Amino acid sequence: MKTFVTLLGATAVAAMLSVPALADDKATIDYRINIMKAMGAQAAGLGAAMQGKVPNDNIGLHARSIALGMKQSMKAFESKAVGGTSKGEIWDNWKDFSDRLAKLEAAAVVVADLADKGDKAGAQAKIRDMLTCKSCHDVYRVPDQK
Ligand code: HEC
Repeated sequence: MKTFVTLLGATAVAAMLSVPALADDKATIDYRINIMKAMGAQAAGLGAAMQGKVPNDNIGLHARSIALGMKQSMKAFESKAVGGTSKGEIWDNWKDFSDRLAKLEAAAVVVADLADKGDKAGAQAKIRDMLTCKSCHDVYRVPDQK
């Protein structure tokens, strides 16, 4: 390695070594963004079903999808990859960030279980506990998003 460094120069080697790391970061960032996009779509479906704009049989399935998305996010955000609209504070405050994911997941399971039992009013009453998406975004996303 020493000869290699001497031959190419330390900067060239550092640049070469950093290429795969950046490629991994891009995959990691794209992955978590895709999971979050799915959350946006599932939340829209849940809202429409709750308001009775579409058949409400899928309330439980939408809530369950959000619970699964929070679980997926736990792994997707675990390794530090600053980029997208994620703030570096996520990994400085990993306990707080992951607690928020876990809380939303648990709240979504409560809603899904009630909906599956046919208790729409009960599910409706508990949906407020699931609406913590924005409070996490307010803390952990770069502001001025469209
Ligand atoms: C624990 C924190 C947290 C929670 C809870 C959370 N998000 Fe996110 N969300 C993020 C972060 C961080 C990003 C930025 C990801 C990136 O760009 O790296 C994001 C990005 C997004 C995006 C933008 C994706 C894009 O197109 O760039 C959407 C949409 C989204 N979240 C929807 C939701 C919805 C809906 C919920 C609730 C059901 C939710 N999120 C819950 C942290 C959270």
